[in-house]
Amino acid sequence: MPTVERSAARTFASSYPSYEQTQICDELRAKEYPALATETYLDFTAGNLYATSQLARHMELLRQHCYGNPHSTNPASAASTELVARTRRAVLRFFNASPDDWDVVFTGNASQALKLIGESYPFEPGDRYLLTFDNHNSVNGIREFARAHGATATYVPIVLPEMRVEDADLDRALTTARPGGHNLFAYPAQSNFSGVQHPLEWIARAHDHGWDVLLDAAAFTATNRLDLSTWTPDFVVQSFYKLFGYPTGVGCLLARKRALAKLRRPWFSGGTITVASVQGDKYYLADGATAFEDGTLDYLALPAVEIGLQHLESIGIERIHERVRCLTGWLLQNLLSLKQTNGAPLVRLYGPPTTDRRGGIVTFNFYDAEGRAVDHRIVERRANAADISLRTGCFCNPGGGEIALGLTGTELTTCFRKPEHETHFTVDDFRLCIDGKSTGAVRVSLGMVSNLQDVERFIAFAKEFIGP
Ligand SMILES: Cc1ncc(COP(=O)(O)O)c(C=O)c1O
Repeated sequence: MPTVERSAARTFASSYPSYEQTQICDELRAKEYPALATETYLDFTAGNLYATSQLARHMELLRQHCYGNPHSTNPASAASTELVARTRRAVLRFFNASPDDWDVVFTGNASQALKLIGESYPFEPGDRYLLTFDNHNSVNGIREFARAHGATATYVPIVLPEMRVEDADLDRALTTARPGGHNLFAYPAQSNFSGVQHPLEWIARAHDHGWDVLLDAAAFTATNRLDLSTWTPDFVVQSFYKLFGYPTGVGCLLARKRALAKLRRPWFSGGTITVASVQGDKYYLADGATAFEDGTLDYLALPAVEIGLQHLESIGIERIHERVRCLTGWLLQNLLSLKQTNGAPLVRLYGPPTTDRRGGIVTFNFYDAEGRAVDHRIVERRANAADISLRTGCFCNPGGGEIALGLTGTELTTCFRKPEHETHFTVDDFRLCIDGKSTGAVRVSLGMVSNLQDVERFIAFAKEFIGP
């Protein structure tokens, strides 16, 4: 792999002097992430990468003990029960969440945690579900539960070019809480589309107006500290592979105890009850998190969560944050300076152009000299051929995509109302229907073991889109 040009490395080092303090990540990368010797990975928001020591420690643990299904009292089961309890404590510690105030519900991923909230939040006719345009589909999907119970779902817009929410819009929306009702406000701490970090100060503001707050932390916590002794949303959702790559298949709902007590589960299942009867036609839900963990937890994968958290802490979230900030600043600066030969900008960025209140996600489209967007599928194909892993499309964040790409509500409803689109609508139908506009963007996202070479490699790739 080519090394970084010396002059670029020098300018980078003098522009971002704090980067040097993150050298431990370079050492780790060389030692523990061997696959990165030959690959350029720029998709950390989709999935983080794992260190070989995480795998080794996990395998060693499984090799040494006999772990059984945690639902009984035999020694193998008790060993698993203890590991699950340990993992819960480790998660609470990591988020500085007091066990007196917070519960951890283990789920398969952030989406399952969101579904738990959606199906259990006690929405009633007239209640409110408020959310930002900028949200993952698994947060958007809660609107269907809200509406099914007669609540209204309302969106707060985001505004170009930075794709943030205007303060006045938020204030107005927050005043619509139903007095004495159940009001839920959901937003991402960091957008998985634009990288914008929406203010955590909104939590207290929303509480003051009578809202419960659901904070989607899935794209935030890999590179930012979320201290739940400072910030007190009611619900936080998370997928652990986004923090440290391994294991996949484990996420959680962190819930304040009194918020969890407000939820009403629509069913019961194995693992969630104290007693259920067939002839007596009755069931009693267990207390706290147990009532929300359906069936058997992935008890063999769970201990790898504590190992992952320790791995992150051994580097330090603040250090990871700083490293990603430096690399993101360099990427933005270089990408935005690129021009077509006639002086037209090569890139249209969707999100903040500096590192102010944003994370390591950079989303954009390439444009040719005549101002036409380069189809994101072409970019993806060329990146794949160059062995660069990046993401294109809307990243399951349609609100972000619609605002970035200038797709209007009228345009979209016209498409959806066509008789042939009544029940079936593919991505290709979508493309045809909004003829002439882009349907997606290109996303590059950085993480704890990204380095200058990755970013330089991408900048070189971007230059290939400059015409003759
Ligand atoms: C902001 C955000 N929320 C939620 C999710 C859903 O995560 P999962 O697919 O692991 O359930 C993602 C995944 O990309 C995300 O970026």
